[in-house]
Amino acid sequence: MREAVVLVTGANGEIGHGLVSRLAERGERVVGLDLSPAASPVAEQCHEWIQGSILDSSLLSRLVSQYEFRTIYHLAAMLSTRAEFTPGAAHAVNVEGTLNLLEMAAEQTEWSGRRLKFMFPSSIAVYGLPDLATKAEAGSIREKTWNLPTTMYGCNKAYCEHLGRYYANHYKQLGAAKGVSGVDFRAIRYPGLISAATVPSGGTSDYIPEMIHRVARHEPYECFVRPDTRIPFMAMPDAIRAIVALEEADEAALSWRSYNVTSFNPSAQEFLDELLTRWSDAQVEFQVDRKRQEIVDSWPADVNDDAAREDWGWEPLYDFTSALDDYLVPGIASEMGGGVA
Ligand code: SER
Repeated sequence: MREAVVLVTGANGEIGHGLVSRLAERGERVVGLDLSPAASPVAEQCHEWIQGSILDSSLLSRLVSQYEFRTIYHLAAMLSTRAEFTPGAAHAVNVEGTLNLLEMAAEQTEWSGRRLKFMFPSSIAVYGLPDLATKAEAGSIREKTWNLPTTMYGCNKAYCEHLGRYYANHYKQLGAAKGVSGVDFRAIRYPGLISAATVPSGGTSDYIPEMIHRVARHEPYECFVRPDTRIPFMAMPDAIRAIVALEEADEAALSWRSYNVTSFNPSAQEFLDELLTRWSDAQVEFQVDRKRQEIVDSWPADVNDDAAREDWGWEPLYDFTSALDDYLVPGIASEMGGGVA
């Protein structure tokens, strides 16, 4: 018999850090798959750590022979800034890697007779607003609007949502219908995420997490977007709560498969102003990178998450102030060994 486990790809990434602990606390046996070696503290919380790539099909075949996956959290991805430098590689990781895992998941469903849950972090990058006037007018946008992404990453995530919908609702629709098939795909369109434990790399919403981590270390920071730049954000514990809550939701309650979630949406200046009340020596200058600015300007100023609230009871724990005072400021201090003044 194969062992029943939860697979987390990209387990050593920002979301993986919190998610693996949360799943381990819930008593799950987690198999972590990541390009990084097992040296990470996340690996210690896993039943097994596999250093490898989601593009390695022989590795995936070995996993299928060894484990029965109950759920897959597919976190591995190349983020939006990095993807613009190597769009072909981004497509391979973000799309072909996802397709490999969806295929593996559908095969597992056939074996087990139970539709495997496939949890997918999508992004506000699936939206594309054409200009700032439209962005201001659009305000808080719903899932089915403004779906014309301008980045490779956004296109990849949008297409993977379609793939997920296909595997969930229309998989092999011309085949002889017998038995349970396909994959129970569920996606969360995350806003920018801010973790006390890690700093992201390769994303375009990175200016907010980079700013607080630099300021907490009393280091100068050059913010690459204008002070008035506004997109939604969320504290990492809420991001973890959201994806776990969506996993636990009854499938019959889901009116669709890709949900907005959000917590707060300060401008870069408003975020800095809050930091200045906590670290009066904060040295932040605005040095706009025009191209990265254009990407952030194409993302919504806010998203409407009513569907998540109504369908599966989503509600963030942290608002802007409590995210800072109850999570980020103490959390970063403790990561630094209590060294934040
Ligand atoms: N944080 C992502 C990025 O900046 C967007 O979801 O690429």
